[in-house]
Amino acid sequence: MTTPPAHETCLIVDFGSQVTQLIARRLREMDIYCEIHPFNHVDDALIDRLAPKAVILSGGPASVEDEGSPRANQRLFELGCPVLGICYGQMAMVHQLGGKAEGGHHREFGRAFVKLSEKSALFEGVAAPGEEAEVWMSHGDRVTALPPGFHVQGASPNAPYAVLADPSRRFYGVMFHPEVVHTPQGARLLRNFTHGIAGMSGDWTMAAYKDQAIAQIREQVGEGRVICGLSGGVDSSVAAVLIHQAIGDQLTCVFVDTGMMRMNEAEEVVTLFRDHYNIPLVHADESGLFLGELAGVTDPEAKRKTIGRLFIDVFEKHAADAGGAEFLAQGTLYPDVIESVSVSGGPSVTIKSHHNVGGLPERMNMKLVEPLRELFKDEVRALGHELGLPEAFIGRHPFPGPGLAIRCPGEITREKLEILRQADAIYLDEMRKAGLYDEIWQAFAVLLPVRTVGVMGDGRTYDHVCALRAVTSVDGMTADYFPFGHDFLGRTANRIINEVKGINRVVYDVTSKPPGTIEWE
Ligand code: XMP
Repeated sequence: MTTPPAHETCLIVDFGSQVTQLIARRLREMDIYCEIHPFNHVDDALIDRLAPKAVILSGGPASVEDEGSPRANQRLFELGCPVLGICYGQMAMVHQLGGKAEGGHHREFGRAFVKLSEKSALFEGVAAPGEEAEVWMSHGDRVTALPPGFHVQGASPNAPYAVLADPSRRFYGVMFHPEVVHTPQGARLLRNFTHGIAGMSGDWTMAAYKDQAIAQIREQVGEGRVICGLSGGVDSSVAAVLIHQAIGDQLTCVFVDTGMMRMNEAEEVVTLFRDHYNIPLVHADESGLFLGELAGVTDPEAKRKTIGRLFIDVFEKHAADAGGAEFLAQGTLYPDVIESVSVSGGPSVTIKSHHNVGGLPERMNMKLVEPLRELFKDEVRALGHELGLPEAFIGRHPFPGPGLAIRCPGEITREKLEILRQADAIYLDEMRKAGLYDEIWQAFAVLLPVRTVGVMGDGRTYDHVCALRAVTSVDGMTADYFPFGHDFLGRTANRIINEVKGINRVVYDVTSKPPGTIEWE
């Protein structure tokens, strides 16, 4: 992307902290547009393009004394715009502006109280001189000499340089993390920086974004044709509706029904797109092909790879039938785009081969249209509202590309999928009735390839075990099991066993992620 953002921008320089994304999240919540870039990618061209109104230097795992440790582009300190250094970002700033920071001190983690020694614009409305504010510390290095122009504004018992400032240049540095929830007034501190110190207006609204995105899509696509693979998930649906608003019938959507969708899933997607939006939709019922190729396949990775391969074949075929296209639309989100700073430098281990349409653009020689690239998940939902998508659709739990295949350990058969669909539908129905659906990040049933003995009426049963899973999470990277009450679990298990032929036992999965993953395969 070479066009400058149409709104005031805050540049976040990433030094590799685990929580850098949270800085962006907090700012977006305050209607501030921001972009995260790894420290070593912040060159003059990027700075010119973004023309930032404010700069935030993130934390990071390095020590400023380490050889080759990260530095911020020195030009950032010459732009005349405010800079906030957080943790390592503070150390780098101090170091680069002529002060000194040293390692070798005890790492300090956790809750601390910062006492202000003078009035600080950063703490406006949070703490006055002599007052304390609760913060969350996590640092190793410590400042030992201040750069010219800087002085201390606040300290904690273990961090004499907890808050530093050069108010004339609007440079601030903190040794704690305002972006994490454990700093209770952290969002206010960040707001004081962006709105107060930097004078940003908070012009990042969904309505503005929508108009801008539509204009960009029109400019990119021109008279061309766009193909979009719909999965039934929120992201691809929002992307499709947005693109349709931009270019109308130059867009064709393809919904590949693998036969491994949830109950009524295919019908809901078809109805939404064809009837509600009048968007041309190719409904490709390929369940025969998928289930045929998956017969006898039990290994989770082999399942995922088979499905991924077939999906690309089928999509390619239907896209060609629909008249071909030079553009492929994808619902890629900002967290997938951010290039994180690799601390170890090594490639990460493949836990699961995620299925998406990743192989398509190269194979079909297509250009990508990714109108959600700058958004976080909840912003995609907000955009969905803006586009008038039905509430029930926007609030849907995530659903994996390989569908029920990875919720059916062992061999997949039509019969097993049908049993699973029924159990899953009852589970979700109970969850909705109990008003819990929106509290839970994702929930589903799993059909185990284990049969156990039971007794129903006067007879012996020998049927499958069904496991229920429900998690809370922010982004699916980590998750906790949801603490249902026993009455909910008992009621749901009872219904499943009574109503679904083929299941005679229900268990609840209480594994968090890590060490588990959310899906079972
Ligand atoms: P795991 O099981 O890795 O899942 O903890 C994390 C989140 O990703 C979803 N998931 C997928 N989504 N294609 C997708 O689009 C996939 O292949 C895939 N595998 C897992 C999963 O449902 C959860 O939300």
